Amino acid sequence: MLTTAQQKTYERAVRLHNRAARRQAAGEPKSPEKLYLSALALKEQLFGPDHIEVAMTLNNLGLYYKSLGRLGEARAAYQRSLPIMEKELGGTDTRVGDLLYNLSQLLKKESEELEHRSDMIAEAAREMADDSWKATAKINKEMAAFALSVGPSRIHRFGVFAAEPIPAAKRIIEYTGERVSRRFWLSRCEHRTYLCNLDAYWCIDGSVGGSGAELLNHCCEPNCAFQHENGRVWVASLRRIEPGEELLLDYNFRKDCGIVRCYCGAPSCRGTINRR
Ligand SMILES: C[S@@+](CC[C@H](N)C(=O)[O-])C[C@H]1O[C@@H](n2cnc3c(N)ncnc32)[C@H](O)[C@@H]1O
Ligand SMILES: [Zn+2]
Repeated sequence: MLTTAQQKTYERAVRLHNRAARRQAAGEPKSPEKLYLSALALKEQLFGPDHIEVAMTLNNLGLYYKSLGRLGEARAAYQRSLPIMEKELGGTDTRVGDLLYNLSQLLKKESEELEHRSDMIAEAAREMADDSWKATAKINKEMAAFALSVGPSRIHRFGVFAAEPIPAAKRIIEYTGERVSRRFWLSRCEHRTYLCNLDAYWCIDGSVGGSGAELLNHCCEPNCAFQHENGRVWVASLRRIEPGEELLLDYNFRKDCGIVRCYCGAPSCRGTINRR
């Protein structure tokens, strides 16, 4: 039996859970997570970690993360919820069946992604096995204010590295390329993207006439940022960059160029190189 105070807390948790579910159904990307996590914390505080109420919120949270492509977090939520639901509802309950189906779809997707990543690494290793890539992947020194080099990156194929110290808030290199409409660029869209958005209509395609700035990789904790002035764009330092450090930008790609999983490895990595 719950005391009156506990009953009130429980009703609050249910309201939070239901509000999260409504916002999730309405396609709101951000607020459901906070609401589900608050509901979960209240339920755990009231009933302990292995209660069916906790499992129900975990289950919804799993669905929510899955819809956002946050597969690891979705898996963790489902895997915590499954044994509780099996124990409390029995192994033949259709809600357990639904959870198993969702989890199996998720694992399939995760497995496809791992295989894709493994293929990409193998393809990049083949491409970089000899030095032929160096003929095209280079820096136009006239466009750069600091010494830079191109070399193998821990994030993706090759990237751009500082070859001397770069102080904070300095323009490092101009981002050049062909100025095209985004619509035209999308029709050209390949699996690797050398792109800087100018506005909603125009962008610079660095794969044509690029200065080498187009070779910078993405990181969710960047040390560089684009700086726009009168229709021109530079890569500028956000902090001091030491020699040997890779120059990294937050691409913040719109979703219309496809969702690309991020492997920057930063503690606050948001999972994709696209904006949230
Ligand atoms: C402008 S290129 C950067 C240079 C690229 N490393 C190369 O070797 O051609 C952009 C492409 O690199 C890949 N890339 C860059 N940063 C990434 C990251 N953090 N995670 C995953 N892929 C990344 C993506 O395929 C993206 O479309
Ligand atoms: Zn990242």
